[in-house]
Amino acid sequence: MITHFPKTHAPGLFFREGIKKFIKNGSLVPSSKYLGKMMLKSVEMKQGVFIVELGAGTGTFTKMILSEMPKSGRLVVFEINPILAEYLRWQIVDPRIMIIEADAVDMVSHLSNLNTNKPNYIISGIPIGNMRPSLRKSLLSAVHETLAEDGLFIQFQYFLASLVAIRKFFHTKIIGYEYRNIPPAFVYSCSKKIL
Ligand SMILES: C[S@@+](CC[C@H](N)C(=O)[O-])C[C@H]1O[C@@H](n2cnc3c(N)ncnc32)[C@H](O)[C@@H]1O
Repeated sequence: MITHFPKTHAPGLFFREGIKKFIKNGSLVPSSKYLGKMMLKSVEMKQGVFIVELGAGTGTFTKMILSEMPKSGRLVVFEINPILAEYLRWQIVDPRIMIIEADAVDMVSHLSNLNTNKPNYIISGIPIGNMRPSLRKSLLSAVHETLAEDGLFIQFQYFLASLVAIRKFFHTKIIGYEYRNIPPAFVYSCSKKIL
């Protein structure tokens, strides 16, 4: 499907896709830069940093990551919505990014095809609270398998709804509550547990 976006602005597109696919989108408004800042505050943008972003939407965090990332860094994005994936490809042209239109639950096989090291950070905007428990478990297990041993998984949620599920896989800290976001959101920073 080829869609052109000459007059589309991100909030309008996000709203339209949010109405069509509310459970997967999780919101009708893209995240604010304030939330993006909180999501990235524990990320050390060292040389060669490798970041995976899950559920990029219209790219609020994606653009912030790229603006802070060194030239030697690499960003792989998973976005399940084909219209949003196409919008991201149209909006963001950068040699450091690869946009994969796929379910993040399948990240292990996609990333193994790329023949890379494990990512230092996995930054997620996926509404994990809306997922069926079995699917959420599969996603968290895939994040655990994918992430480098000393890596961080960073997730936001509007409610503290999935902490119990996340804590089965990760040591989890709530690093902030960003009220300048619609809706306000908690940010979790998670390091791997030995399972
Ligand atoms: C709440 S929006 C967040 C978008 C963006 N990160 C932001 O904060 O503005 C959730 C995004 O995750 C995507 N998504 C939901 N489930 C997904 C999955 N299993 N794999 C990949 N992307 C997914 C949706 O299509 C949507 O773009």
